[in-house]
Formats: sequence, structure tokens, C-alpha cells
Amino acid sequence: MLRRRQDQLVNDRLESRASKETVNPRPAEARLEAQRLSGHVLVDGRLCDALSPERFEVENPADETIIGQAPRCRAQDVERAVQAAGRAFPVWSAIPARERGDRIRRAADRLEAEGERLARLLCLETGNALATQARPEIAGMLEHLRLFAGLASELKGSTLPWAGDALSYTTREPIGVVGAIIPWNAPLFLTAAKLGPALVAGNTVVLKSAEQAPLAALRAVEIMQEFLPPGAANVISGYGEEAGKPLAEHPLVRKVSFTGSGAVGKMILRYAADKICPVTLELGGKGPNIVLPDADLDLVVPGIIQGMRFTRQGQSCSAGSRLFLHAEIYEDVMDRLAGALARLRIGDPMDEATEVGALISREQFDRVYRYVEIARGTPGTRIRCGGGRPAALPKGYFFEPTLIEGMPHESPVCQEEIFGPVATVFAWRDFDEVMRLANEVDYGLSAALWTRDLERALRFAQRIQAGFVQVNQFITPRAGLPYGGWKSSGLGKECSLESMLEHFTQSKTVIINRGSPRPETPPRH
Ligand code: NAI
Ligand code: MG
Repeated sequence: MLRRRQDQLVNDRLESRASKETVNPRPAEARLEAQRLSGHVLVDGRLCDALSPERFEVENPADETIIGQAPRCRAQDVERAVQAAGRAFPVWSAIPARERGDRIRRAADRLEAEGERLARLLCLETGNALATQARPEIAGMLEHLRLFAGLASELKGSTLPWAGDALSYTTREPIGVVGAIIPWNAPLFLTAAKLGPALVAGNTVVLKSAEQAPLAALRAVEIMQEFLPPGAANVISGYGEEAGKPLAEHPLVRKVSFTGSGAVGKMILRYAADKICPVTLELGGKGPNIVLPDADLDLVVPGIIQGMRFTRQGQSCSAGSRLFLHAEIYEDVMDRLAGALARLRIGDPMDEATEVGALISREQFDRVYRYVEIARGTPGTRIRCGGGRPAALPKGYFFEPTLIEGMPHESPVCQEEIFGPVATVFAWRDFDEVMRLANEVDYGLSAALWTRDLERALRFAQRIQAGFVQVNQFITPRAGLPYGGWKSSGLGKECSLESMLEHFTQSKTVIINRGSPRPETPPRH
């Protein structure tokens, strides 16, 4: 509820700005913008043609129309973008950190002024509902850019009390060219979560956008150009093997920051191994959401919907997709939940009244459907609600919010990331047993528990194997809260000071001998 209220505030702010600063951008404008961006990459400070003549189509998942094309970049485009970032590195890194922060802050202000248009472009290419998802994602992008802008003066080292006759200290320095590879599920938030800390720390970047949603990220980085030297932030598009792999492998790329599937995350680690290059991985999740019988059910039901990211069609690595309801409240919660899900408005993502949009692609739709089919074919299971395409929406990749009951926990449906609006639900009685099940997956990203019992809450927080743990709420990552997974969910943290210091800088230890032949020996007086 709180999130909804916050989102509403942000929406109101964006709306009022939009009405002041733009001429009420309509869906047609988003399509024109998609056309303008079509066929371009962003290298050396400007939109330009790719070297590769091949392109792929960008689809609006809500109506299956083609809204534009993006270059199918390969090694030569990677080479050109990385060289541009390499040339920009000495220029950008020489700018004092606080000025870099200031430039990112001003870029965020400009992005905010363009926020409504960007939100509509994002909505058009991702199928995420404008009101519940695309606008709040703009807010998340701004929040993260401003966080890192403000942290610029934290790029500091320490002095080390090593010896009386030596001055010893550490510095934090940028790494060089960063390769950032992002998926389609939150292109603008992820662009900010990677470019924000990378740039403020003094690195330059080549971002490879997701093939399903390349346009909004391209536009956002285009808007930022006014505040950056040419080449500091470049964007290329293309497929993983053809553009992502040569980017991650490029010898000039000294840091790779990746968000996406576990399978590709492992490949990124292998590419980086050959050149001993640090890697941040934000991979999938299969978050447990545990409800105790004493929880406030008025909070729990909207909390489950938010935690499952149903208004984002469940396409979130932090989704609470395994729901563990205590047997005493099981039926009550399921009734309320099924009722609330039935009331969610699914449809045209541009419509202000729509709460749930479309899945990103036919491929994802089919993938989600396959998991539901496994559940249908498993004896003893029941699809409590949803299970496929809403009858009223024959076109577009719409999928009803779906609850599956009675599935064995070891089934792939309960173990693998579905990345769709599908939650599996379990009844439990024993706390130790539910904690065991909660941890019995390869993933370890997000987790939540609902109770009024402080002792239980603390025991849960202590025993859960996950990187992002919440009690009596299940929100998405927020600026300032370190976010990252345990186990197969990834390596490293994002969204926080640590993410900038640990993942986008390298430290140097300096010892200056002040003239003593053996400075480490105590001075004689
Ligand atoms: P993916 O991991 O294949 O793609 C993510 C990004 O990596 C894209 O930009 C893609 O072009 C790039 N990529 C793919 N192969 C690559 C390679 N060999 N080298 C370098 N870059 C490469 O994810 P995809 O196919 O979009 O989604 C599949 C599943 O992955 C989803 O169903 C979901 O379970 C999971 N996923 C998790 C995300 C998260 O937020 N952690 C985001 C997106 C997907
Ligand atoms: Mg893939």
C-alpha cells in the first residue's frame, strides 16, 4: 500500500511536470520516437548508424506490432564503442569526482523533465503498464542516479597508521572501461543502476541493451550526453552471443556488470576469467514469501501481490514466487488473494486505468505457459486462479495472474525461475520445516516473512539464505539499500555505496618513505 502511495506521489509529480514541460505526449509520439531511434547506436556522444547493416525488429508486446528496428551489432561495433570509451576515460576520470556527481545530478534533472515521454516509450516496448510500472521505473532511475551523484565525495581512501616515518594511504580509483549488459525487464532502472555508480566513480561505459527492449535505454543515455564528454557512455544493441560476448571478452573492458539469466551469468564469468576481470552478476531468484498466522492479513494480501510483482507480470528477479501460507490462515488468504487478483485490470499498458500489462515476448509467454502446463499435468495440483491468456485479450502477450497449489516443492515449477505472473503456494505448520523449504532452492535473492512476532522475525532473518530480506513488506530494490543475491543468484551488490566502491573502483595503497632507511622501525628520540 505504501509503495502504491509513493508511486502515486511520483506519478503525480511526473504528470504535473509533464503537463508543464511537454505538450501532453500521446502514444503516437512514443511510436514516432521509436522510429527516430530506430537503427541507431550511440557512440562517441551521438546517435549514429551501426557498422553492421543487419537489424532486428522491436515489437510492442501488447499488440504484436513492430515499433522499430535496432542494429544487430557484432564485434566491429563493439570494437568501435569500446575504443570510444577508452579515449573518453582519461578525459572523464580527470574531472573531479564532485563535478562528475554534479553532472550526473543534472542529467537526472533532464531525464526527469523528459520522464513522461520516456515512460511512454518504455511502456511501448516492454508492455509494462504506464501507471503501475513504467512511470515508477522512471522514478527508480532518477532515485538511483541521484543517489550516486550525491555519493561522489565518498570516493575516498584512508590513511594507514603503518609507520612513523612513512605516510601510508589508500586511494579509490576508477577501473577503466566498463561493459554493462542488461536484460529487458527493467531497462531504465538497470541502466541507472549500472551507469550511475560506474560514471560517478570515473569509469566510462559501453552498455549493451536487451534485444527485446533497446529503445528506452538508448534514449535515456542520449539525454545524458549533454552532461558527458563524448564516449563516456555508449550504447550498442544486439544479441548476446554476437554483441554481449565480444563486449565481455574485450581486453580493454576491465569490468563487466551483468544482469540476466544464471546460464549467461556463468558464461560471463568464463569470459572474464581469461583476462582476470572483475564481474558483478545480478541473476535470478525464486523468493520465498512466508506468512505466519498472526500476521495482519489486510497488509499481507496486497503485500503478496506486490511481492510477486503481479503488476509487472511477475517479470522480476526479486519476485516472491513461492508463497508459504500457514495452514490456519491458508483458505482465508487464498480467497482474498484470488479475489484481489481477479479485480486487477489487465490490458492496454498505455491506458491509465490498466494495472497489469503484457509479458515481454512470445518466447516468454510460451516459457511461462510451459511451466503452467507442467503443473496441470501433475497429479494433486490445482490452478487456483489464472493459468493462461485472458479470454478478452486475444492479441498481445497477456497472461493472467496465476496461483498454483499442491505442487511438490522439488518440481521445476517450484525450483526454477518462471519470470511470469505465476506463484506456487504451499500450506505449512512447522516453522523449522518451512525455513528448510524456503532455503531449499539454488537461488538466494529476495525473501519475506509476515508476522507480529519479533522473535520469529529475527529467527527468519538469521536463518534465511538470501541477500535481500524483508519482514512485513516485500518491496523492490531501493536506492541506498545494498541489493544482490546469495548462492546462484549472483555476485556483488548494487544500488548502494558499496556497489560503487567495491564494484566500480580499485584501491591503491601508497607508502611514502619520509627518508628513513627502515621506516617501519619505531623512531628513536
Ligand atoms: P539472458 O540472460 O539471455 O539475457 C540478458 C542479457 O544478456 C541480454 O542483453 C542478452 O543479449 C545478453 N546475453 C545473452 N547471452 C549472452 C552471452 N552469451 N554473452 C553476453 N551477453 C549475453 O536472459 P533472457 O533470455 O532475456 O531471459 C531468460 C530468463 O533469464 C528469464 O526467463 C529469467 O528467468 C532470467 N532473467 C533474469 C533477470 C534478472 O533480473 N535477474 C532478467 C532477465 C532474465
Ligand atoms: Mg537468453
